[in-house]
Amino acid sequence: MERRPVILSGIQPSGRLTIGHYTGALRNWAALQPTHACFFMIADLHAITVRQDPIELRQRTLEVAALFIACGIDPSQSTLFVQSHVPEHTQLTWVLTCFTGMGECSRMTQFKEKSAQYRHNINVGLFAYPILMAADILLYQADLVPVGADQKQHLELTRNLAERFNHLYGQIFRIPEPYIPPVGAKIMSLQEPTKKMSKSDPNDNAVLFLTDSPEDIHRKIRRAITDSGREIRYDEKQRPGLSNLIVLYHIATGKSITEIEHEFEGSGYADLKAALAEALIEFLRPIREEYGRLCDAKDYLQNILLRGAEKARTRAHQTLQLVHNCVGFLPTLTPEAAVGMAHNR
Ligand code: TRP
Repeated sequence: MERRPVILSGIQPSGRLTIGHYTGALRNWAALQPTHACFFMIADLHAITVRQDPIELRQRTLEVAALFIACGIDPSQSTLFVQSHVPEHTQLTWVLTCFTGMGECSRMTQFKEKSAQYRHNINVGLFAYPILMAADILLYQADLVPVGADQKQHLELTRNLAERFNHLYGQIFRIPEPYIPPVGAKIMSLQEPTKKMSKSDPNDNAVLFLTDSPEDIHRKIRRAITDSGREIRYDEKQRPGLSNLIVLYHIATGKSITEIEHEFEGSGYADLKAALAEALIEFLRPIREEYGRLCDAKDYLQNILLRGAEKARTRAHQTLQLVHNCVGFLPTLTPEAAVGMAHNR
């Protein structure tokens, strides 16, 4: 039988998901499902490298799970699970940690950035973060890992660790390839349009969340920063605010930039903003509505995560056993085997 290529990816539940998560990740993941064996993970172990409020983290984890499904991840096709539910992730991390040089981790750009950003909490988890990510990927023998460009360096480390291990012990790990999806348009902050839109922006008005109500969307678009000027013309350099709104309109309607410029010939910013708010409300409607239904069905959601974790564990466990065997750990006994041994003594 033909082996379908394996995909693994994850998102941290460290904030609410934005329209960028949909266009840049979830939409592409959903499209890969029919042709790949997919594992999609909510990376809560990664999230606690930065201090999280426990109640909020629990809530966000469920929220992200619901949004995965609302954005087209089909739990009957793909394995959808929470990272901390599969203890093999932490177990493999330890082994890999013992095969990683200090220098390899301290070189990581994200570590340097985050340790500058969270000066008061530069913990070892933040340092080892990419090793945990390597474990996530290698446990499932993933072929392809869809990630944003900012995660490419972590993938490079993952490949190095896998090759190092294989060199010592034989073909244990499949060497994964990054899959950087064809960049859709980059979405910028609505308040500071030269900065990327980010789920952790303290200013709520700067970000379009997937769960925003129509009123939220109207308000945020109305308040979005534009530039001085009159006519609707795309110019990323000179008019980043307006250009960002044009990009969003392109995303919501599928119209090309040229078509949009034609549509608004002779109209002003207010017309564009009004049309954009309506278009975004429609674009996000199916996600928002499905999300609402899932929130009313917590048992259903929890059940999916439970079954997802079971499925993930089955696969992860096989890899972990291989690894434990390679490094010389004594195999654990099943309770039945242990009883058998006691009888035979
Ligand atoms: N570090 C990734 C991010 O912040 C999330 C993540 C965790 C991930 N484990 C992963 C992505 C494994 C791909 C594969 O974007």
